[in-house]
Amino acid sequence: MDAVKKILVARRAPAAVLDKLSARFDVDYHDGVMPLAADELRARLQGRAGAYITGTERISAELLDACPDLRVVSTMSVGYNHIDLAACTARRVLVTNTPDVLTETTADLGFALLMATARRMGEGERLLRDGGWKSWSWDFLAGQDVHGTTLGILGMGRIGQAIARRGRFGFGMKIAYHNRSRLAPETEAELGARYLSKEALLSQADHLVLVLPYSAESHHCIAAAELALMKPTATLINIARGGIVDEDALAAALRENRIAAAGLDVFEGEPRVNPVLLTLPNVVLTPHIGSATMPTRLAMAGLAADNLIAALTGDVPPTPLNPEILSA
Ligand code: 8YV
Repeated sequence: MDAVKKILVARRAPAAVLDKLSARFDVDYHDGVMPLAADELRARLQGRAGAYITGTERISAELLDACPDLRVVSTMSVGYNHIDLAACTARRVLVTNTPDVLTETTADLGFALLMATARRMGEGERLLRDGGWKSWSWDFLAGQDVHGTTLGILGMGRIGQAIARRGRFGFGMKIAYHNRSRLAPETEAELGARYLSKEALLSQADHLVLVLPYSAESHHCIAAAELALMKPTATLINIARGGIVDEDALAAALRENRIAAAGLDVFEGEPRVNPVLLTLPNVVLTPHIGSATMPTRLAMAGLAADNLIAALTGDVPPTPLNPEILSA
C-alpha cells in the first residue's frame, strides 16, 4: 500500500473540505485567517506533496526549489497571478485553480458595484448615517444612468461575458469590449458586443469594467494616459486585481473630477488601501468580495479539494492549469 501522502492546507477551510482531505492525507492545517509568512509557508511545506492555498500564498521559483517534495499546488481562486506557473511547469509541479464555479457570483458583484458607483450609493449611505440628509434638491446625489448606456468591458473572459449578459439583457446596455483575442462571431452576436481597440473602448465607455487577468503585461495598464481618454461622466469598476490600475493616477482623476466615479473591489497591496482613495467621496470600496457568497465559496473550496485529491491519487484533476505535464 502507498504511504499516506502529506499535504499542507495553508488557510482556514470549510470543515467538510478539511474532513475530506484529512480522510485521505496527512494534513498539516493552518487554521488561521491571516496568511502564513513566506518563511513559515516554506518550512511547513517541507516533505509535503500537496498544497491547498488561496490567493494570498505566493508560490515562487525559490519556494519550489526549497520544497522539492511539492508535486501539486491547488489554489482556491480563479486568478493565479500569485503562482509562478512557468516555474511550476518547469519543475513538473501540477497547478490547479477554481474557474467557472465563481463566474456568475463575481459578475453579480461587478454589476452591483457598477450600480452603486453610478448611483452614488456609498455617498448616500454615508450621508444618511451621518445625519446629513436634511432636504431635497434637484441635483441631490444625482449620478449617472446605467440603463441604455455603453458598458465597456476590458477582459472578455467568462466573467466579462457574464457581466455583458447582465448589461445587455437586464439593462438594455450597448456592449463594447477589448480583449487579447476577439470573441467568436456567434458569441459577439449573442452578447451584441462590439470589439474595439483599448483606446476606443476607454473613450466610448460610460461604465468601464476591468475583468482581465493580472500579469506583468497588465500591470498599471490603466494609468494617467488611459484615464485621460475616458469621459468625465464615466465610471471605472475594478473587480480583477488592484495592480491593473495605477491608484495614484486614479485618485488624481477622481479628485479632479476627470472621471465621475470608481468602484473598487481590489487594491494594489491589499488589504492596505491607498489612503487618498479613502478620502474621496466618489469611490465605492469593497474588500475583495467578488466571489464571497456562501454557496460559491463552498463550491470553490470543494473544487480545490477535488483537484488536490485527484492529482495526488493519480487521476486527472477537474481544472488543471498546466495539464501538459500530465500527458508528458
Ligand atoms: C478570491 C479571487 O476571493 O478567485 C479569485 O481569483 O480573486 C477571489 O475569488 C480569492 O482570491 C480567494 O483565494
